This record gives sequence, C-alpha cells and structure tokens, in this order.
Amino acid sequence: MVGEGGKEAVKQYIADLRKKIHYHNYRYYVLDEPEISDAEYDRLFKELEEFESKYPELVTPDSPTQRVGAKPLEAFGTYKHSIPLLSLNSVSDEGEVRDFDERVRKFLGEAGGAAAIEYVVEPKIDGLAMELIYKNGVLSVGSTRGDGETGEEITQNLRTIKTIPLRIFSDAASASGVPLSLLEVRGEVFIPVGKFKDLNTALGEKGARMFANPRNAAAGSVRQLDPRVTASRPLDFFAYGVGRAEGKEFSTQWEVLAYLRRIGFKISPLIRRFETIQDAIRYHEEVKEKRDELDYEIDGIVVKVNSIEQQERLGAISRSPRWALAYKFPARVEFTRVKNIVVQVGRTGALTPVAVLEPVPIGGATIHRATLHNEDELRRKDVRIGDTVVVERAGDVIPEVVSVIKSKRTGTEKEFKMPDRCPVCGAEVIKEGPIRRCIGVSCEAQLKERIKHFASLRALDIEGLGEKVIEQLVDRKMVSDAVDLFFLTKSDLLRLERMGGKSAQNILDALEKSKHTTLSRLIHAMGIRHVGDHTASLLADNFRDLESLRNASYDDLVCIPEVGPEVARSILLFFEQGSTKELLDKQERAGVSYEKRGVGVAEEAVREVLEGKTFVFTGRISMPREEARGIVERLGGKVASSVSKRTDYVVAGEEAGSKWDTAVRLGVRIIDEEMFMRLIKEK
Ligand code: IVH
Repeated sequence: MVGEGGKEAVKQYIADLRKKIHYHNYRYYVLDEPEISDAEYDRLFKELEEFESKYPELVTPDSPTQRVGAKPLEAFGTYKHSIPLLSLNSVSDEGEVRDFDERVRKFLGEAGGAAAIEYVVEPKIDGLAMELIYKNGVLSVGSTRGDGETGEEITQNLRTIKTIPLRIFSDAASASGVPLSLLEVRGEVFIPVGKFKDLNTALGEKGARMFANPRNAAAGSVRQLDPRVTASRPLDFFAYGVGRAEGKEFSTQWEVLAYLRRIGFKISPLIRRFETIQDAIRYHEEVKEKRDELDYEIDGIVVKVNSIEQQERLGAISRSPRWALAYKFPARVEFTRVKNIVVQVGRTGALTPVAVLEPVPIGGATIHRATLHNEDELRRKDVRIGDTVVVERAGDVIPEVVSVIKSKRTGTEKEFKMPDRCPVCGAEVIKEGPIRRCIGVSCEAQLKERIKHFASLRALDIEGLGEKVIEQLVDRKMVSDAVDLFFLTKSDLLRLERMGGKSAQNILDALEKSKHTTLSRLIHAMGIRHVGDHTASLLADNFRDLESLRNASYDDLVCIPEVGPEVARSILLFFEQGSTKELLDKQERAGVSYEKRGVGVAEEAVREVLEGKTFVFTGRISMPREEARGIVERLGGKVASSVSKRTDYVVAGEEAGSKWDTAVRLGVRIIDEEMFMRLIKEK
C-alpha cells in the first residue's frame, strides 16, 4: 500500500509521464519530427498503462491512454454551439474577389485606410468543420458543425484523432503559463488522400462498401457509434480558428493561428499573409498548381481580413461573415447527361459499367466517360441511360458518377442491365461478389495478360517472348489466343518492330522447345482462375492427362486434398467452355506434347537443387544404379564414379565402401537413400 504522501508522489509521476507522452505525440503526429524512437515511446506508454491499471482512480480523461476507451453509443446527442459556426460566401472568379475587397474597403471607410487592410489566406480544406471545447486545458466536448447553431456531440470519436490534443500545452507566451479556463477551437477533420486510398483498398478486400472520396470517408468515419471504428480510420485535423477564449484577446487572425500552433494544434503550412488582394489572387493560382501534390483535398482558398477589430466592424450577414471569402478552384464536380452505359472488360476479365457522357469540362479536362464501378454500385445509385448525373473528377482519380438528379427524370430514362455474356468475346460471365467476370479463354480484353502468363517462366517458359513482343502480336491481331503463338512463322515475327533475324529465330526455337513440356506446366499455363502452379502440380499428380482432367467431376476434384469448392468450380467452368475445347484441339494440332509425370512445376524446386550438382553412389540402393543415374540427369545433375572435392553429394547405400571414407575426409555431404529419394521426389 502506498500512503497518502506516497500517492501524491505517484500522482505527480503519472502527470509527468502523461506530459512527456503528450509532448512526444505532438512531435510525432503534429510536427512529424519525432525526438525519440518508437520503441522508447512505446516504453513510456506502457509504463503509463501499468501505473493506471494499478491506480485506476488516477486515470484522467485527458490521459493519452484514453483516446479509445469509450463504449459504443446508441445515438449521438446534440450540442448547441455558444457562438454559431458561420459559413463562407464563395466565389470562383477573380472579379468577384476584387468586388469583395472593394466592399470591405468601402465598409471600413477611410478609417480602414487603403494600406491598412491585411489579408490572411488559408487553404480551404475539404473536410468537415468541428468545434473542440477545452476546459482548463483539457478536451471536454467535441462536436460537428451541424447547421451552424447545433451540431452532434461526438467527443469520444474526436478523442481518437491523434492530431487533436487531449490536453493543450500551456501558452509559453502568456503571462501565467496556465491554460485558459475556456477555449473553443474550430477546424476541419479530414482523411489524407493516400490513406484514403489504402482505406478503400482494405474495405474493398473485406467486401465492405467503399467511400466515393476522402470527404465522405471522413464523414462516415467520424460519425461511427463505436469509437473503435473511428480510431481505426486515418483521420486528421487542421485548426483554423477560435470561438470563445476566456481571458485571451487576439488582435489578428494571424495571431490566432500562431497561438493554436503554440498550444499543440496542426496548422496548414500553406497559410500566408498579404497586404493586397492582388497578392492573394496570385497565391490562389500558386496553390491551385500545387493542389494535386498535396496529401489532402482542398477546394479553394479562404481569404480572411486579418484584423479582428476590422472583422468585428464588418460583422456578418445571414450566417456569412463580411470579412471572409472562399475563393474556389474550378469545380471538379459537374452536371451532365448519361448518353449511354457501356461495359468495359479489364485485363482480369472484370466487367465495369461505364457511363458515356455528354462531354463536360471538369477542372481543366473534358470528361467523356465516368466509371460506375460495378453492378452493385450501379444499382445503389440507380443510374439510368438519359439521367442527369453529378460527375466528379478528384485529383488523379478516374472520373466517377457520384449521384443522379432524380428530379430531372422525364420517364424516358432506360434502366441498364449488366450482360450475361462478355461484350468482347461472348463467353459466359460469372458473378464474384459485386464483380462480374468474363471467363472466356480467348477473350481479347484479357489476351495480353493470358499470353504473358502462358509464356512465363513457371508456365511454358518461352524465352525471348517478352511483354513488348506479346503486345505487338495482339495489337496487330497476329494471334487471337495463346496457342496461336505456335503457328507464327519467321516472316510473321520479322514484321514486328525492332525484331532482327536472330531474335526471331530465338523465339521460334524457344516456342518449339516449349511445346514439349509437362502436364503440370501445361495446366498452369492455361490460366484457369484460382489454379496457380501449386494446384496445377496437384492436378497433374492426380490425373493421367488433360483429357481425364477435362472429364473430372466436381467430386473427383474436391476429393483432392487442398482443392476446395471454389477451385473445383472454377476448373469445371473452364472445361465447360466451348472455346476451351477448341483451344485444346488446336494445341494438339500445334504439336504440343507433355510428359504425363515428368519434371513438373512442383519439381522446379528439385531441379534447382539438383541442377549442375554432381552425385556419387556407393553401396547398395534399392533401385538399379542406371535408373538412379537417369533420374539425376533428367533433373539436371551429373553422376560421377569417384569422389572428389567437386562432388556435391555422396549417396551411401548399404555396405558403403571406401568412397564413404573419402567423402568424410574431403567434407563432402553424405546422404542416405531415403534422403536421396526425398531430394528427387516429384513434390
Ligand atoms: S473559416 C467564419 N477556414 O469551409 C468562417 N473554414 O463554408 C467560418 N473550411 O464549414 C469558416 N477550411 O468546413 C474556415 N481555413 C478555413 C477552412 C474552412 C475549410 C470549411 C469549413 C466551413 C466551410 C465554410
């Protein structure tokens, strides 16, 4: 037990520990300039956790351990802002910005003085406005902007954001150094673009709904009833203003920002101060150029009169201050009409519905098409041919249809149904989750990838047949499936770019060589979905030839260990195709042959082990020496009659003779028959 005095000491120690962690948190998340290693930080954090579990009565809500600790809510409460969160008048051309400047001057009159008006320019972050209330330096309430008067209370979610301080630093510049009794901080919650993409990829892999853009992702994440979900989302926060600040007077916006930075908030590095509106307008151009390089979405700049006294004189009309203006970048969202919906087939056979649009300029580019992602998204948004839609082009992302303006419907719009057959090759289409996929073996859309796979090292290993050659062959329609490769002539190849006689001959030789292969390589090369080289070699072990694999039933397939229902179905589907049969026949005509149980793909590893290795046999082994020699040679090794330093393995059977002794003396590796068998085993 710790006595009262001891407890005070513990309390102090814990407080110091928290302060240290807050500080290092700030260095890491806000400044991106850590002073200590991650391991050191983890050690501090763990120490705090241990103390807190020992003294639960000393846990405070501002402890760094309390970022995620709250239980899921049933619903959010509402929160009435003491000072409304205003919105901004927004304009998109230069003239309107000059008008704004003129209005400001006129309003402030000569007292303002032409030179006396300064502007602060900030990026307009495309996120969600929030208010954070700090009581005696500790975060006590966090809320959304809502309608400006009343928002939702989402304190426990905002606490999970690492760039929102749970406790603000005392202001070194203030006389007392004691935190304000009350401070309201305003700013924007957002998700960085790079992290947004990762988040969407992860959601997609889980089969969860993806977000259309970073702003939606931030909105969806910050309004989760379970704060653990919010904590797992890469949310971030930029502060840009204050509401009430008891006991503190600011004379400029610039000062506000500097203060927010000092007490631990993240402030945009793009903020500038200018003496003329012309400079602000020029800066708008500069930021616009940088827009796509930034890791967060911005939709314009905000121009604010710097002096608070002038701001107060200017006041607000109908929820928008007269002292600030949003100067937007050209919209990357536009309205247009869907002329048609078509289906594109990707390299893996995935069918993507695409809207063909009435061309519309968006952010400097003319957009003719926009993706509808997949069938589920198409249904969810209920996009029809003839609809007026909202199209968005965000950064370097492919344009997409965001939503339909249903009020513009006339009744003549046509619903679109995804095809059951591939629009490129006519083969059957299967559904995998939200994605429809073409399974045609000679689908031109997939042809390049299929041929690359066919020729690859672990499939038929056609040397010299690189990507560039394959692409040209497909583009010039010289092949319409992989087997066509075997019918190419030298004069065909010579028509390709940068193809000399020697390379052409090399390719022909490699093609000829690859015709004599193994069953497992051939199965692998066919590119059956879900059948990689490992499964191919399992299949080769279990079926005598392609014909028996082709005739296999579902039960035959699933009784092979490691072959599951999905793989079995995919194999059946592959062989059911009419085009598969054609391909197999053509393959035979081309003279493709395979060893039923030869050096298969699974033996590739064995081949690597034996390739170029020298073996010496001594004593009696259970198979005839000649057979053993044959196996070693087939796998690329050599057999010698006497042991030397260059011998790699001595295989010692029963009653091994002097060769054993020599091997020991020279330090050559000695293996027994069992090990030899394992080495050459086909799997
Ligand atoms: S100031 C009195 N500064 O824009 C002005 N707002 O339409 C109130 N926003 O709801 C806002 N970046 O979500 C201000 N640097 C910035 C901003 C910013 C983004 C958003 C904010 C607000 C909306 C106003």
